[in-house]
Amino acid sequence: MTDSTETRTPAAPAAALSDWGNVAAGGVMERLVSLCKRRGYVFQSSEIYGGIGSTWDYGPLGVELKRNIKDAWWQAMVRRDDIEGLDAAILMHPKVWEASGHVAGFTDPLVDCRNCKHRFRPDAIAEDAEVKCPRCGSRDLSEPRQFNLMFKTWMGPVEEEAAIAYLRPETAQGIYVNFLNVLNSSRQKVPFGIAQIGKAFRNEITPGNFIFRTREFEQMEMQYFVKPGSDMEWLEYWLGERRQWYRGLGIREAKMQIHRHEPAELAHYAAAAYDLQYEFPFGWQELEGIHDRTDFDLKAHETHSGKKLSYFDEESKERFVPFIVETSAGVDRSLLTCLVDGFREEGQGKEARTVLMLHPRIAPIKAAVFPLVNRDGMPELAREVYHALHRHWNVFFDDGGSIGRRYRRQDEAGTPFCLTVDGESVAERTVTVRDRDSMRQDRVAIDRLEEWLAERIEAPA
Ligand code: GAP
Repeated sequence: MTDSTETRTPAAPAAALSDWGNVAAGGVMERLVSLCKRRGYVFQSSEIYGGIGSTWDYGPLGVELKRNIKDAWWQAMVRRDDIEGLDAAILMHPKVWEASGHVAGFTDPLVDCRNCKHRFRPDAIAEDAEVKCPRCGSRDLSEPRQFNLMFKTWMGPVEEEAAIAYLRPETAQGIYVNFLNVLNSSRQKVPFGIAQIGKAFRNEITPGNFIFRTREFEQMEMQYFVKPGSDMEWLEYWLGERRQWYRGLGIREAKMQIHRHEPAELAHYAAAAYDLQYEFPFGWQELEGIHDRTDFDLKAHETHSGKKLSYFDEESKERFVPFIVETSAGVDRSLLTCLVDGFREEGQGKEARTVLMLHPRIAPIKAAVFPLVNRDGMPELAREVYHALHRHWNVFFDDGGSIGRRYRRQDEAGTPFCLTVDGESVAERTVTVRDRDSMRQDRVAIDRLEEWLAERIEAPA
């Protein structure tokens, strides 16, 4: 229900509205955050008002990267015979959250400082009994109280108990309540899955590390409905598939590991669970959860709604409530992983460069087109090349500054290929293609460019 096994970083003192997500000064994360702003990947939300805690806006390149990641997920998870897509509403009947256990149990402990009135999570500050206020150091603290992480609002004009609605803290419940609708309209048979991408909201007490943990984020979740008894097999299958998906985005294998939950770590709904973890600059952290949720969710919704949510197996003539194996990934966290994994600072002095080595498949800009100089037919031919490629991909035209500076800008933006139109291009109808990672240059015929790029953009990592 919550990525509770993660090490939560302490809230920065007085980090109420504006903060940079607890990013340590002078470290690699700070340089990445700065690149994200400079190149238009991620901006602090409401920045001109001083920002608002742990919410972020995706700029022109960020939004392209996000779309490419979501498309890659949809392609892998929904474009298969046994999975259907869904887009459920964010606002749901409040009873959904009673059935799911979120009203009663989606909480974090909070302590009040009687001296400076600061509120904080005690376990994020110290593991021993010597808990003191992270802001003023006082030990005059209240007993821990449970704080619900769901955002609450009201439906309609009257702010009363009967009108309470919650912003969903996970997309999964929208899938469970639509189980029968999808089953009856799609001709699927167990085992089959339902997948969706959408926003989720959690009033996290200790958000931080840039876009790693925020209060508004996007999830990519798939719930796979299986025959009871086959759940452990499917759990292993989906663990393998999900790990492979990140490899396909170009994420380095050595930076990923699997954490199997100990019985004491398991969420109340889970019989078994894995975290797929990534080694961020701030330590090994959960990237995605793969959970065996048993029949907990469907049975809970049966009890609270009074509707039967079972499945009749034509072959065995058995009726049962399916078990669910869930794969639950964060869009923002996947995006951060791609940025962190691809971020490189190479060379020294004049040779120094910062590069985002994003896989061409997810890179926001696939190619940049440069006329070497702005005369002798080069700008016209470069424009022709740009327009031809722009029909297929997001490409960029740049005729400003030296070629070296144009390369550096695209290296930081993560653009895998830079195409330069020079004197020879005009005579021979060829361009030089400079590879971002190796910096190697090849000459490619303009007539072959689309095919040449397509091969590399579609190539598996
Ligand atoms: N339906 C199960 C579920 O929501 P979770 O472990 O709480 O499980 C799954 O969340 C994934 O959602 C996490 O692995 C992470 O990628 C993402 N996620 C959860 N809370 C987040 C937050 N506050 N900010 C950003 N991403 C978050």
